[in-house]
Amino acid sequence: MEVDSAAPPGAGAIVAAAGIAASKSDRQRGARVVAHSHVKGLGLSGAGYALPSGAGMVGQKAAREAAGVAVELIKIGKMSGRSVLLVGAPGTGKTAIAHAIAHELGTRVPFCNMVGSEVYSAEVKKSEVLMESFRRAIGLRIKEIKEVFEGEVTELAPVETPNALEGFGKTIESVIVTLKTTKGSKQLRLDPMIYELLVKERVAVGDVIYIEANSGAVKRVGRSDSYATEYDLEAEEYVPLPKDEVHKRREVVQDISLHDLDAANARPQGGKDIMSIVNQISKPRKTEITEKLRMEINKIVAKYVEQGIAEIVPGVLFVDEVHMLDMECFAFLNRALESNLAPTVIFATNRGMCDIHGTDIRSPHGIPIDLLDRCLIIRTQPYTLEEITEILCIRADVEGVKFEPEAVTILAEIAARASLRYAIQLLTPCRVLSESNGHERVLATDIREADAVFYDAKSSARVLLEQGDAFIT
Ligand SMILES: Nc1ncnc2c1ncn2[C@@H]1O[C@H](COP(=O)(O)OP(=O)(O)OP(=O)(O)O)[C@@H](O)[C@H]1O
Ligand SMILES: [Mg+2]
Repeated sequence: MEVDSAAPPGAGAIVAAAGIAASKSDRQRGARVVAHSHVKGLGLSGAGYALPSGAGMVGQKAAREAAGVAVELIKIGKMSGRSVLLVGAPGTGKTAIAHAIAHELGTRVPFCNMVGSEVYSAEVKKSEVLMESFRRAIGLRIKEIKEVFEGEVTELAPVETPNALEGFGKTIESVIVTLKTTKGSKQLRLDPMIYELLVKERVAVGDVIYIEANSGAVKRVGRSDSYATEYDLEAEEYVPLPKDEVHKRREVVQDISLHDLDAANARPQGGKDIMSIVNQISKPRKTEITEKLRMEINKIVAKYVEQGIAEIVPGVLFVDEVHMLDMECFAFLNRALESNLAPTVIFATNRGMCDIHGTDIRSPHGIPIDLLDRCLIIRTQPYTLEEITEILCIRADVEGVKFEPEAVTILAEIAARASLRYAIQLLTPCRVLSESNGHERVLATDIREADAVFYDAKSSARVLLEQGDAFIT
C-alpha cells in the first residue's frame, strides 16, 4: 500500500498550511483584551431584553439590546457589508459592548479587532492594513472528507538498501508500518518521506497514530492505553485503541480566515537565480501578500464554495477609535463595504462634531457623511451612580480587590467626578496601598490616599490651566 507523501498543489496544501497560521494569529489577537476581561456577553434574556446586570455587563439597556439585534442578524448572515457605529462619551462602554458582541457570536464567527491608529505604520500602506483586517474578519469553513489510516502501531520497520554511491551508506527505500484497531490490522508500505515525519513525531511501537492518505501528514494521537503504566506521574497521554477499520473516510471541518489563507500562500519575494537567493539571506525573510495573490485565493475559494466543499462565514471587523482614520481609509472602506466578500463592520468613537483626521472638513464623529449614512448608529448613555458602583464591584472582583462597603461609595463618587476608567484604574493601586498600610480590605482612607497621589485627566487639565506658565509650550 503506497501513500503519496507529496501534498497535491491547491486545496490540501493551501488549507493545511493555513491551519497552522490560523491558530497562531488568533492567539496573538486575543491576548489584548484585558480591560474588558469581566465582559462575557451582552447579558440579554432569551427574548432579547437586557438584564439589569448579566454576563459582566451593567445598565446601558438600549445599546445592549440594539447590539443583541445586530448579533442575531450577523448570525443569520443578514448583516454582511453593513456597518454599525457605537457613539457615546468616553468610558460609557462602547469597547465593552463590542467585546460582548464577540463573545455572543462565539468562536465560529471570525471577529477581528483593530484600533483606527493601527493604520499609521511606516512599513505598510494604510489600505493594506485595512485590507488585512477585512480578510481576517471573513472565515471559510471547509468540510473535507479525508481518507485516513488510524490505529496502534504494532510494527515500524524502515526498509534499507545499500547506497551504491556512498560506500557503507544506506538509503531508506520505504517504511513498513502495521496499524491495529479493534476491528483488525493492516500493513502499510509507505514512502520514505513519511518515515521522516514518523521520526519527527517520535512515533514508536505502541503509539496510536493517524496518517492522512493524500497529504501524507502524520499525527501522533497518543500512547495506546494498553501500554499505560500504574504510575500517575507521567507526561504521556493514553488513548484507547481506535474502534473502526484502519482505513476509513472521515469528515474534517476546519475554520480559517481568508487572511490566513493569504499569509500561508505568500512566498518570500524574489526569483530562483543565485543573486536573489543571496539577497534574501541578507534581508529578513519577508513575505508580501499581493493583490494578485488575493485574487487567486478568491478564485480558489469561489470554486470551493461552488463545489459545496466550503462555506463563507462573514464575520465582524471592529474598528475602535474610528475618528483616527483619514480620507484615504474612508475611501477604502466605502469601496470595501460594497464588495461581495465583506464582513459586518462595527465602528466606535467618542468624538462629537470634529474635523476628519488630516483635513479641515468638519463632520459628525469625524466620519464623512456618506459613510455615516451607511451606519446603524447605537448610542451609549452616561451611567448612574448605582450602575457605576456595580461595574466597580464586578471589576474589583476580577482584579481580586476586596473592599469595605463605604470604600466602594467613595470610589463611585470619584468615578462620577473624574471618569469610570480612572476609578477602575485606581483599583489595584488602592489594593497595594491598603496592603502596605496593613489593612486586610481596602478602606475609604486608602482610596482617598490613592486619589491624592494620582491625577485624573480633568484635574490634570485644571492644573495646566492654573500653572500653565511653568510648562514649556
Ligand atoms: N455597561 C458596562 N458593564 C460593565 N463594564 C463596563 C460597562 N461599561 C463600561 N464598562 C467598563 O468600563 C471601562 C471603560 O469602558 P469602555 O472602555 O468600554 O469605554 P468606551 O466607551 O470604549 O470609552 P472610550 O470612548 O474612551 O474608548 C472598561 O473597563 C469597561 O469594561
Ligand atoms: Mg473604547
